[in-house]
Amino acid sequence: MRTALALMMLTSPAFAQQAADAVAPEAATGLSPEVAAPVEAQDWMVAAANPLAAEAGAEVLRAGGSAADAMVAVQTVLGLVEPQSSGLGGGAFLVWYDAETGELTTLDGRETAPAAATPTLFLTEDGETMGFFDAVVGGLSVGTPGTPMLMEEAHRRWGRANWPDLFDAAIGHAEDGFAVSPRLATLVAEDAERLSSDAATADYFLPDGEPIAEGSTLRNPAYAETLRALAERGTDAFYEGEIAEGIVAAVRGAAQPGLLSLGDLAAYEVIERPAVCAPYRGHDVCGMGPPSSGGLTVGQILAMIEPYEIGEMGPDSPEAWRLIGDASRLAFADRGRYMADSDFVPVPNLLDAQYLDLRADLLAGDDALPEVSAGSPPWEHAMLDLPDWGDGWTPSMPSTSHISIVDAEGNALSMTTTIENGFGSRVLAPGGFLLNNELTDFSFSTHEDDRPVANRVEPRKRPRSSMAPTIVMRDDAPVMVVGSPGGSRIIGYVAKTIIAHLDWGMDVQQAVALPHLVNRFGTYDLEAGTAAEALAEPLTEMGYEVNLRDLTSGLHAIAVGETLTGGADPRREGVAIGE
Ligand code: GLY
Repeated sequence: MRTALALMMLTSPAFAQQAADAVAPEAATGLSPEVAAPVEAQDWMVAAANPLAAEAGAEVLRAGGSAADAMVAVQTVLGLVEPQSSGLGGGAFLVWYDAETGELTTLDGRETAPAAATPTLFLTEDGETMGFFDAVVGGLSVGTPGTPMLMEEAHRRWGRANWPDLFDAAIGHAEDGFAVSPRLATLVAEDAERLSSDAATADYFLPDGEPIAEGSTLRNPAYAETLRALAERGTDAFYEGEIAEGIVAAVRGAAQPGLLSLGDLAAYEVIERPAVCAPYRGHDVCGMGPPSSGGLTVGQILAMIEPYEIGEMGPDSPEAWRLIGDASRLAFADRGRYMADSDFVPVPNLLDAQYLDLRADLLAGDDALPEVSAGSPPWEHAMLDLPDWGDGWTPSMPSTSHISIVDAEGNALSMTTTIENGFGSRVLAPGGFLLNNELTDFSFSTHEDDRPVANRVEPRKRPRSSMAPTIVMRDDAPVMVVGSPGGSRIIGYVAKTIIAHLDWGMDVQQAVALPHLVNRFGTYDLEAGTAAEALAEPLTEMGYEVNLRDLTSGLHAIAVGETLTGGADPRREGVAIGE
């Protein structure tokens, strides 16, 4: 057995910063970046957004823990060292492959809207939609956190390790202090004004008024105390009592007070939902269904490009990116109209094969589709009174974190976890963790003309997500575990990585590092400072508006074959560790 750890370089432009031992991959093409060799392992692997978090998971796996056990250790450390992205104050979706039964299960630990919330939550007194950050910062955007209960539920179902032990690493780092990473320091400095809006948040991230510096030691004793309570008493210690009271007081006492109550916390539940699987070139691409749009939208994109020879075209082909880009636009049009919490609104069969064949036919031309709109997918036969939804307005911004784990038994876990925007609502609970702003993932508008929006705010509803934790299956066994942060661009990042691996034969490190080209609503976003820029001209000639920009995904992928192969996104601080 050997231990391998690939520490990837930080932030964009990423590819110039690759490690000195970078090698040109065999399948290198114009677009393919030079990347470090992927991490290889025999028994188990964990890939996550921070080396301390991944190492905490590795320690659990090394000691014989399951992927669910390791996830608890990873998540609790991430909440400390990458607090801007995920944590106890947020929510998550988890896809689990059980090696013993061969079954896939998904768990929905998404935040819920307070019982007191109404569809007009993000409308001004004049009935206009609020500005995005006006809505985000403060208590109004905070939903009931789901991540603590998701950790507990995953451990209850699939854990082998002693629950309290899984908190040791995070408690140790919180008490002893950890070195502030370059990314955290940069993001704090960039967000200093918003972080100043909450006194507790400012005290923690801007001590003496100055942003915490890269490499400085940061301690969080309040977080350590919260973790001890969770370790000793489980999530009852979180959803009621002192920690819950602290959350509600922080939300209600914020400059822009929110509606969260103790009753909302006490009523919170993790929900098991059927995995959403789309067939793709002999594989089943399986992920999270509503309230996430991730599984359906990734599945629609892949289904629409399947009739076309993307593999032969290769990653440098403008034609390949036209097909992927317009398939994505068509899928995003359906997403905007139809996808929302299916416990509140009926969702049509968006993966219906005949329907997607018709949508795929729309891609048959040579140029960008001039116009794209939602289609007419089939509904359940039993539904007589079909809903007529309007399109919503949901300005999700990039943030979030992704954890991929395969354990020594062959169980696989893909979990995307978030507090929504970077630093969430900017409200720090007394328990030492940031609270989410997940409610801004609802549509701010309630209607389009006189048609209601499916993803409007409703009491106890879960906001639509783009998170796409995915397990790709072949012959009923996992071959790839993947996911990413990135707001609604998550969908494009994940689809691209699957295409790069399955169609273009890249290993998972090449696949995650491949420059991004993402089209959601018409404008083609090309990753600035990378070889993707070479596609700007041909895509413009096809009729696209092209925009060069940073596209800071945080993909973590594990390919499962005779060995395990791990890839961590060079655009962030993540690593893959395996033995
Ligand atoms: N808040 C990010 C997402 O759920 O898509």
